[in-house]
Amino acid sequence: MTDLKYKRIILKLSGEALAGDQGFGIHPPVIKTVAKEVKDVYELGLQIGIVVGGGNMWRGESGAQMGMERAQADYIGMLATIMNALALQDNLESLDVPTRVQTSIEMREIAEPYIRRKAIRHLEKNRVVIFAGGTGSPYFSTDTTAALRAAEINADAILMAKNGVDGVYSADPNIDASAVKYDHLTQMDIINKGLHVMDSTASTLSMDNDIPLEVFNLNKPGNIKKVVLGEQIGTTVRG
Ligand code: GTP
Repeated sequence: MTDLKYKRIILKLSGEALAGDQGFGIHPPVIKTVAKEVKDVYELGLQIGIVVGGGNMWRGESGAQMGMERAQADYIGMLATIMNALALQDNLESLDVPTRVQTSIEMREIAEPYIRRKAIRHLEKNRVVIFAGGTGSPYFSTDTTAALRAAEINADAILMAKNGVDGVYSADPNIDASAVKYDHLTQMDIINKGLHVMDSTASTLSMDNDIPLEVFNLNKPGNIKKVVLGEQIGTTVRG
C-alpha cells in the first residue's frame, strides 16, 4: 500500500464547496468533481468519513439574525446537510465508491441512523461514511460535528477542505497583501494569535482530543490526495 500520512480521516466539506460559482444549492458538475477527488483518495486505501455542511442552502445563524428562533433555524440547517449528504452519496456511488449515509436525526426511510460502532464497521469494510445532520443538536456547527465524529471514530486527522483558501493565514489574504500562510501551527498558536480555523467549540474538542487538522484548498485538483500522502500544501495544526 502507498505510504499514507493518515489511515483514517474525517474530511470536512463545506456546503459551499458543492455550490460552485452559483453560490447556492448543489451544482452537478461541482459535486461530481468533489466526488472524483474523494474517489482518488479512496483508492489509496485509507478509511474516509465525511462531514458535510449545509451553508449552500441555509445557515442557522443567518436565520436567527433574521428573527427566527435559533434552534428552529439550526434544524433547517441540519436538514440542508442531509440533502447534501444524499447528493454526495449518489455521486460517489455513480463512481463505484461504496458509501453509507448516517444521520444524527433519525429518518430511517432515507438513511441509516448514526450508530458509532456501525460507522466504524463500515469504515473497516472500506465504505465511505457520510455523517449527515450535524451533531443533531442546535447551536453546534458542522465543524464541531467533524471534531466530534473524528474523536468518536478515532480518526487520525480532520481534513478541513476550504473553498478557495490555501490554508491558515496571518491575516485575510484578500484584504491584507502582507498576509503570510502558516505551514505548521499548534492549537495554542491559533488561540494566542486569534486565528480562525474552526469555531471555538470545534477547536476545543479537537485540541482536547489531540486530533490534528489539515487546512487546505479543495478547489485545486489533487489536493486531498496530496495531504494524505504527506505533502505540505496547506496548514497543519497539531499539538
Ligand atoms: P453489513 O452489516 O456490513 O452488511 O452492512 P450493510 O450496510 O451492507 O448492511 P445493512 O443490511 O445494514 O444495510 C444495507 C443497506 O441498507 C445499506 O445501503 C444501508 O445504508 C441501508 N440501511 C441500513 N439500515 C438502514 C436504515 O435504517 N434506513 C435506511 N434508509 N437504510 C438503511
